[in-house]
Amino acid sequence: NKKISIAIDGPAAAGKSTVAKFVAEKLSYIYIDTGAMYRALTYKALKKHISLENEDELINLLNDTTIILLPGDQGQLIFLDEENVSEDIRTREVTNTVSIVAKHKLVREEMVERQKSFAVNGGVVMDGRDIGTHVLPDAEVKVFLLASVDERAIRRHNENIQKGFPSDLAKLKEEISLRDKLDSEREFAPLKKAADAVEIDTTALTIEQVVERIMVLALERI
Ligand code: C5P
Repeated sequence: NKKISIAIDGPAAAGKSTVAKFVAEKLSYIYIDTGAMYRALTYKALKKHISLENEDELINLLNDTTIILLPGDQGQLIFLDEENVSEDIRTREVTNTVSIVAKHKLVREEMVERQKSFAVNGGVVMDGRDIGTHVLPDAEVKVFLLASVDERAIRRHNENIQKGFPSDLAKLKEEISLRDKLDSEREFAPLKKAADAVEIDTTALTIEQVVERIMVLALERI
């Protein structure tokens, strides 16, 4: 059996990580959440009071930072310089500032290099914003996941409520739209569907249906 690479891109809260995890599990592939890497750097920069606009300081910080992604029972675990930051990188503060860190060219180049190195042997499902366009341009399967802003905000809202977190649906909608805008309009490697990616609108689909669609695409190429 050939070990292929699967790239899953799309806007914020489109369900990328959830379906990527299931697809990776079904194929016994490695799942790589590239957003977690940008989040980890953002978390560290905020903690060190480094300006998120300062590209030089951010790249120095990144060059001095190890980010390790490991599979855990409850999803991916993220270790920042050996500290488990899996939950710390999901705070609203990190979520609402990560797009500033992710716009810098030097930061992206270093992240992309690290991400490529995880995928050299294939057998990966990677999710992010620029996987099909920049990180894995030769991926055998490329998927672009879409859903309406309303649907994405409602999903995130329900998730928050389930976890017992405070949640404001209107605010969430605003924050998701702003993050999409920043990610799609940045100069370097903006959020964009690769020319050869298959678009899946998940608005009216269940997680299982989306996973199934991607599995069909994957099995055609294995
Ligand atoms: O996927 P997630 O929502 O955790 O990503 C957080 C942020 O990281 C995105 O909003 C985007 O700014 C950045 N990102 C990126 N390129 C990727 C993955 C994430 O710019 N491949």
